[in-house]
Amino acid sequence: MTTDTTGTAARDGAPRPGGPADSPFVRACRREPVPHTPVWFMRQAGRSLPEYREIRANVGMLESCRRPDLVAEITLQPVRRHGVDAAILFSDIVVPVAAAGVDLDIVPGTGPVVAEPVRTAEDVERIRPIGRDDVSYVDEAVRLLVAELGATPLIGFAGAPFTLASYLVEGGPSRTHAKTKALMYGQPELWHALCARLAEVTLSFLRVQIGAGVSAVQLFDSWAGALSEADYRRYVLPHSTTVLSGLADAGVPRIHFGVGTAELLGAMGEAGADVVGVDWRTPLDVATRRIGPDRAVQGNLDPTVLLAPWSVVETEVRRIVKQGRAAPGHVFNLGHGVLPETDPEVLTRVVALVHEVSARRAEQG
Ligand code: CP3
Repeated sequence: MTTDTTGTAARDGAPRPGGPADSPFVRACRREPVPHTPVWFMRQAGRSLPEYREIRANVGMLESCRRPDLVAEITLQPVRRHGVDAAILFSDIVVPVAAAGVDLDIVPGTGPVVAEPVRTAEDVERIRPIGRDDVSYVDEAVRLLVAELGATPLIGFAGAPFTLASYLVEGGPSRTHAKTKALMYGQPELWHALCARLAEVTLSFLRVQIGAGVSAVQLFDSWAGALSEADYRRYVLPHSTTVLSGLADAGVPRIHFGVGTAELLGAMGEAGADVVGVDWRTPLDVATRRIGPDRAVQGNLDPTVLLAPWSVVETEVRRIVKQGRAAPGHVFNLGHGVLPETDPEVLTRVVALVHEVSARRAEQG
């Protein structure tokens, strides 16, 4: 087919052999047989790489997210260096919120800081719905990357309503999410209005990325583990479902990830995920029992293990690959993002080791 510039599908809608939609990563997400367990790392594009620090030396974080040439280069750096099975778009969860009109910055060493935290219905109303034109730099960056990456799939992403709401209500990072929970419990109508608006922005943002050719999307609900399952189901699940189920017909796998979510794994799958991300606290065989047979899992090496001697890393990688076999599909990853102090050489060795210990014999497909 000649019009298929994204390489995701052949004329009949089936993945094109050898294209990104037929890659080990996408196949594992779909619970199809794979030649080896695919591996990528959350925050692989970032401060553990000297080439990243160099290119970012004089450019602010938000500005770099808005320059397609920089986004493409930073996204490609870990693919070149480590040979990971997927690229993840270089951006940040607050990029669409800034495009929606919220005054914020990403402060080095701190994270997102919001000038005027959300307190009222008027504050919610000021968060505008977004379209392609509001994030044209993302559309452009994805198109550049898809052309450059060839058979390597590109993962698009967004922050989930709860995690975004936490930054907007707290005004910045928070350990307890106290203001967020106070608003959630004390003003449930306002809470639901805020999350509904954020879900709308997030869905639009992911649709732009899918339209431009990403092969999968990940919804980061990094801080959802702050909630009990009952509160998660009541205050968060409906909004994350709006996003994930809203993409059911988009034709790309949807990954749903959070930290400290052992009690939420089942519910996070129910939100409409094809793959549930698992942090290091829950072994993957236990996690897959909680999630059920209809979803793949992603994870779950403790990022701090990468700072330990190689023999420790090796033992842990082998354990995780083995426990991942209990799941109907496994994408190897960390349980949370790469720490800035990680030696990039160790990441490269982990990729090679995962591939080696998981290689299936050809006759097994
Ligand atoms: O995974 C990747 O390599 C893609 C890039 C990516 C970034 N942020 C780049 C970034 C992704 C997927 C994110 C998502 C993100 N951003 C999340 C969800 C994932 C998670 O870690 O739980 C969250 C909660 C944020 C908010 C945020 N932005 C934080 C907590 C920070 C770190 C603050 C710090 O400096 O320690 C940021 C800034 C940020 N986002 C950096 C990068 C590379 C560091 C900024 C810099 O290099 O100056």
